[in-house]
Amino acid sequence: MPGILIEDVRKRYGQGDTAVDALKGVDMVVGPGEVVGLIGPSGSGKSTLLKCLGAVIEPSGGRMTLGDDIIFDQGWKISDLRALRRDKIGFIFQAPYLIPFLDVTDNVALLPMLSGMPNSKARALALEFLEALDVGHRAGAMPAQLSGGEQQRVSIARALVNRPPVILADEPTAPLDSERAMAVIRILNQMASQYETAIIVVTHDEKIIPTFKRLYQIRDGRTEEQAGEGRSVE
Ligand SMILES: Nc1ncnc2c1ncn2[C@@H]1O[C@H](COP(=O)(O)OP(=O)(O)O)[C@@H](O)[C@H]1O
Ligand SMILES: [Mg+2]
Repeated sequence: MPGILIEDVRKRYGQGDTAVDALKGVDMVVGPGEVVGLIGPSGSGKSTLLKCLGAVIEPSGGRMTLGDDIIFDQGWKISDLRALRRDKIGFIFQAPYLIPFLDVTDNVALLPMLSGMPNSKARALALEFLEALDVGHRAGAMPAQLSGGEQQRVSIARALVNRPPVILADEPTAPLDSERAMAVIRILNQMASQYETAIIVVTHDEKIIPTFKRLYQIRDGRTEEQAGEGRSVE
């Protein structure tokens, strides 16, 4: 069973003369345990595709399957989209956004707490992920006290902590130096192989593109599959 299956997905913004066809029939498959790159020029529809898949916006047509569930087939097939986003999808955005009045640990522990994990256990788990992302020493800090790169690593820890079966990352390494960018790719690969996570990484980061075994190029609202170098990240 595929982790992510996208079939003929279309997205039109607006209507009439000013309509923009951002996606014109996208096909993509990401197996469980696979990290796939998505590249393409600015304005080609990368963010639109991730937002459709993450149930942030509604596609105009096509079909999307996550794991065993058809989530969209010419309309949503899931009634509780909020639960879908919370339980199935880890989103890593281009810019970090953290809850300003919670410290770093609680920003990461919040989601497992909301899912019913006891607070102390959720905080211990949060700390594990913060340490893996090399921000464990900032666990007690408030978001405003962190550098941009530190905030980004905290927001990555938050996307991973619930071990969602699908991770969607929109230029996750943009604010990071190359060593830390590679550390993020390493942890995403570990997540994928350890938990069978299906991961899509939108990027134009030249350092990380060679690490993908498979990637998709999106151009003018359509995707083309390409073989990648699959360079080791160890
Ligand atoms: N909310 C929106 N309303 C209208 N047009 C949009 C909206 N969001 C994106 N677009 C348009 O859709 C196209 C794809 O945008 P986007 O998915 O952000 O591309 P990328 O992430 O590859 O840079 C662009 O032409 C963009 O202007
Ligand atoms: Mg974008």
